[in-house]
Amino acid sequence: MLPLLFSLSLLSPGLAAVAPRPRSVITRGDGFVRASVNAVQHAPRLRARQNAVDLENMDSGTRYAIDVAVGTPPQTVSLIIDTGSPELWVNPRCDTANDAAACAAEPQYDPDGSSSLADTGVTNVITYGKGNVSIQYVFETISIGSATITEQVIGVGLDSYDIPMGILGLSPDTDGTADYPYVLDTMASQAVIASRAFSLDLRSVSDPSGAVIFGGVDTGKFSGTLQKLPILAPSQTPTGADRYWVSLTGVGMTQPDGSADRTPANAIDVPVFLDSGGTLSRLPTAIFQAIGNSFPGAQFDARSGFFVVPDCSALADSGGTVDFFFAGDVAVIRVPFAEFVWQPASAGNSAECLLGVLPDDDEPVLGDSFLRAAYVVFDQDNRALHIAQAASCGAENLVAIGKGVDAVPSATGLCEGAAQPTSAGDLDVAATQAPTRTFSGSAPAVTAPLGGPGPVKSMAKTTGTPNPTGLAAPKETADKKNAAVGGVSVGLGAGVALMVANIVAWTL
Ligand SMILES: *[C@@H]1O[C@H](CO)[C@@H](O)[C@H](O)[C@H]1NC(C)=O
Repeated sequence: MLPLLFSLSLLSPGLAAVAPRPRSVITRGDGFVRASVNAVQHAPRLRARQNAVDLENMDSGTRYAIDVAVGTPPQTVSLIIDTGSPELWVNPRCDTANDAAACAAEPQYDPDGSSSLADTGVTNVITYGKGNVSIQYVFETISIGSATITEQVIGVGLDSYDIPMGILGLSPDTDGTADYPYVLDTMASQAVIASRAFSLDLRSVSDPSGAVIFGGVDTGKFSGTLQKLPILAPSQTPTGADRYWVSLTGVGMTQPDGSADRTPANAIDVPVFLDSGGTLSRLPTAIFQAIGNSFPGAQFDARSGFFVVPDCSALADSGGTVDFFFAGDVAVIRVPFAEFVWQPASAGNSAECLLGVLPDDDEPVLGDSFLRAAYVVFDQDNRALHIAQAASCGAENLVAIGKGVDAVPSATGLCEGAAQPTSAGDLDVAATQAPTRTFSGSAPAVTAPLGGPGPVKSMAKTTGTPNPTGLAAPKETADKKNAAVGGVSVGLGAGVALMVANIVAWTL
């Protein structure tokens, strides 16, 4: 059928076997589709121990994936949920993936086995900071459970580097030029959901309750009231790229004894974007340092650029949180210490971990180390996020998101909120500070995190961006497709390439 040059999954000898993962549990209601999100940790690496303090085994970012069926008959693949990129593509090349064994353990889509595929003849390259993929665009049928959309443009991987799973991008287009309707656009235009909105509830690896709900909200998964935050206009952001940017108006730290420090009112107003494909958060240097200096036991490791926490076991259930304030004090997300650290899948007996934050003064991002504590509704139609403290209280109450400006309900979660801090001193982020504690372990070699594709760094398009007029639509659907392209509003769009912050820069 299609002359795609598929790179086969080549499993190198000697790689550890990977246990099968649970598949997504998908439920569908009137106007919404809920898919459980599987937290996938990087497979342990076979490695030579080079030194006593072996941080190399901390190469274990967590990826968040859902199962999506592609083609006719449906072929199920797992895709990373990425709010930092807009496109869907399948079939990474495994022998050059950064986690070859895990990649090879995942099913791949066979285009020759699908009767609904239509080729476009258009190829593109999507570039991430660490890793890239060359794709060929095809039209396909995509299903999430029983929710099906047809004639969706997706990429089929021809070649890729450093990416172990396909990606389901859910961000707006970075530069507002729509080359084709994305999955969320098509779900709305084909009436699977009422408007372009979804909820994201990421949890730690040990908690299977995480979910993405297209077109819906689960009020049983948060405490307090969902607070509406406008998505910043591209002109208000540091790079001009259209992403899920909001204003971070305060940062604080609540210690296990209940005392708390936070930035004074109006001290900061930092645009940050929410990126589920990023293992870590990246914040302006002064905030990074203030967090590291006040996080109990954290020691700055100049070599890797990370704060190291020598004994992470003390963090579990400590009651301490790293606190993020939005819209003044209206929305507060308190990230438990144990969720904020980046814990190794393969640490063996080591109790060390790294703080899940790095400095970034150019394009700050809140990644998974923040999102695990937040319940977030992403509403593209109204350019708003709605955010509340994630919680688990055994309840499930799925509410469909309708249409119009108040489509996302300002719902109150069914779960009980946690205790609030007892005092509030100042967290000083006025100037960068020297680390108060430095790491004295022997030269750790930290390599890049291997979770999702990472935070988006640049809006630069790479070569071969698809042009709708260049897409060879299936005969009977060309009109529909063009109509759909015309219907995509400004601010969404397509195409693009994401350049992700290259964490290797921090590795020496
Ligand atoms: C993709 O990444 C690989 C490995 O870093 C590199 O050799 C290759 O040139 C990249 N390809 C593109 C198109 O950027």
